[in-house]
Amino acid sequence: MWVGARDEESARALHRAIDLGIDFVDTALAYGDGHSERLVGRGILSRKCGVRVATKVPPLNQEWPARRGVPVEDVFPANHIVACAERSLRNLGFSSIDLLQLHVWQDDWTDRGDWRDAVERLKREGKIRLFGISINDHEPENALRIVATGIVDTVQVIYNIFDQSPEDRLFPECLKRGVGVIARVPLDEGGLTGRVTPEATFPRGDFRNEYFAGDRKREVFERVTKIAADLDVPLERMPQIALRFVLSHPAVSTVIPGMRCVANVEANVAVGDGRGLPAEAVAKLRAHRWARNFYS
Ligand SMILES: NC(=O)c1ccc[n+]([C@@H]2O[C@H](COP(=O)([O-])OP(=O)(O)OC[C@H]3O[C@@H](n4cnc5c(N)ncnc54)[C@H](OP(=O)(O)O)[C@@H]3O)[C@@H](O)[C@H]2O)c1
Repeated sequence: MWVGARDEESARALHRAIDLGIDFVDTALAYGDGHSERLVGRGILSRKCGVRVATKVPPLNQEWPARRGVPVEDVFPANHIVACAERSLRNLGFSSIDLLQLHVWQDDWTDRGDWRDAVERLKREGKIRLFGISINDHEPENALRIVATGIVDTVQVIYNIFDQSPEDRLFPECLKRGVGVIARVPLDEGGLTGRVTPEATFPRGDFRNEYFAGDRKREVFERVTKIAADLDVPLERMPQIALRFVLSHPAVSTVIPGMRCVANVEANVAVGDGRGLPAEAVAKLRAHRWARNFYS
């Protein structure tokens, strides 16, 4: 849940998205301490639709992202996973969660701890249908071991025109194992939409003040302007281009742009036909890969 998100506007955006045919929503227990799950659950139940919902178990130690060297017992003990899933079920108002994800991950946890017992128990009891992990920001290879085990049904990973690194090793492994890929932050927190100009401002307390701090707004805007010029499209088309780029990769199962208002919903659902970009455009976008971490 972002600072500044208003419940009425969020509900209107969700209803519009459902009416326009979206079939998947990603939320988390940590988003507003259950508030986002309650809004999503109410919105979906009121529309009596079959939209699938993914939510996430927060780390017990409340550390985002997961640090190397921290034992999994301090982060995802089985009893914590079960208790959080039950809280999420109550918040959503559902009898079963379509997809439960661990909100952070370190790959050396794969063979440690008792988190698998919780996953097996929740599946056996019908409280969750599928299980996945959300990979730390810009660390796609920090999930290769767990993907190889076949335990996860899905991974959620940052993938966009700037961060194309999941294509190197994660996506081939997911394709090989039949693991679903949920592409998050497809618009680089708004950077790839062309709306983050050097003059753009964000509300007080909004994390984008840090994400786009210092000279970053100018740097991002210059890069996005070059991308639009390279593809010979107006800057206004960049949100759709960015989403279609993500949908162009065969490993990607779904894309989850953050959208808090009806106008963004309508613009983004327009790419819901799932079509990717022409191969020639994807080839040009390879040159715009940009390795950096604005979260740290
Ligand atoms: N660790 C994790 O598991 C994790 C971390 C981050 C995100 N996520 C998930 O990924 C989702 C997407 O990430 P995100 O929202 O952080 O990043 P994002 O999708 O890359 O960017 C969202 C930003 O793009 C803007 N936007 C959306 N559609 C637009 C359009 N058509 N035209 C212009 N601007 C547009 C939004 O504007 P407004 O501000 O006006 O709405 C918002 O500022 C989240 O909702 C969440 O479900 C998961």
